[in-house]
Amino acid sequence: MVCLGNICRSPIAEGILTKYLPKSLFKVDSAGISSLHHGEKPDLRSIDITKKNKIDISSQKSRQFNVKDFENFDHIYVMDNTNLKDILSLSTNPKNYSKVKLLIKNKDVPDPYYGGIKEFKDCYDLIDKACVKIANKLLKND
Ligand code: 4NP
Repeated sequence: MVCLGNICRSPIAEGILTKYLPKSLFKVDSAGISSLHHGEKPDLRSIDITKKNKIDISSQKSRQFNVKDFENFDHIYVMDNTNLKDILSLSTNPKNYSKVKLLIKNKDVPDPYYGGIKEFKDCYDLIDKACVKIANKLLKND
């Protein structure tokens, strides 16, 4: 799960998808395009909205996406079209390109960083809906 700062959207996505997939079969992680918030916990508003949904993401730490992630993961979901462009610019290998997908087809998950509680709730709801679909797809192995 990838966003810009790895403190708002992708930590929520990591927390939700982790809940929907069996730990014995899947490794779920998140990262940021930037290293701006390296080592920081998720934004408190992301921690709060996920906590309201009984998911604890408070021990996550922001890290920057690394080109090795292309090898280490089978699927790379990005939150918006800018993330998509930025990730694709890190590789020239078509095999890597095929792993990168928008979390929601043809749609951005808006960055809630400069928003308020409502933006974080909307963000959570969008990501949750997308993760239900992704988990079902991955569990069916297609
Ligand atoms: P995220 O949100 O990409 O969902 O983690 C952001 C967090 C921080 C900044 C931008 C977006 N920032 O500019 O610091």
